[in-house]
Amino acid sequence: MLKVEQQQPVEFSPALIQKFDEITGRYPEGKQKSALLPILHEVQAEFGWLSVPAMDKVALYLDIQDIEVYEVASFYSMYFLKPQGKYVLEVCRTGPCCLVGAEKLMTHIESSLGVKENEVTPDGLFSWRGVECLAACGFGPVLQIGPEYTFYENLNAEKVDELIADLRKK
Ligand code: FES
Repeated sequence: MLKVEQQQPVEFSPALIQKFDEITGRYPEGKQKSALLPILHEVQAEFGWLSVPAMDKVALYLDIQDIEVYEVASFYSMYFLKPQGKYVLEVCRTGPCCLVGAEKLMTHIESSLGVKENEVTPDGLFSWRGVECLAACGFGPVLQIGPEYTFYENLNAEKVDELIADLRKK
């Protein structure tokens, strides 16, 4: 994780604040804290990840403690606590997928992209990581590609290389 002192201050645009207001408006008065998850999604969509300064600003907006935001952001794997590539390949690493080659697939992705788990390729295009069950256990190995979370099943090394090549062409 980037050291806090290396993280840049962030400014939330009026458009982003307007989205926050719209989201918090869905909850009863006094329950605005419940808007934390969707607000973090908006912040991540805007900045690509959740830096400490960004999470602190969310805490300020929701009038909650900074630690409450950190706890939520660090619990859910869909939030990124460090910069990621434009495309994030998330490979299921839970038992059933491992039985049909998920670990080999991750090793292959590491060597194809030339970066370790959670690192970003020098062109900024890709990062990858193992995640827990993606609920397609009968079709493994599976991966999803963020930020849109497109889903791919029954994978092997060749299919993943094609996927990566297609994304590079985009
Ligand atoms: Fe991989 Fe469930 S174990 S999708």
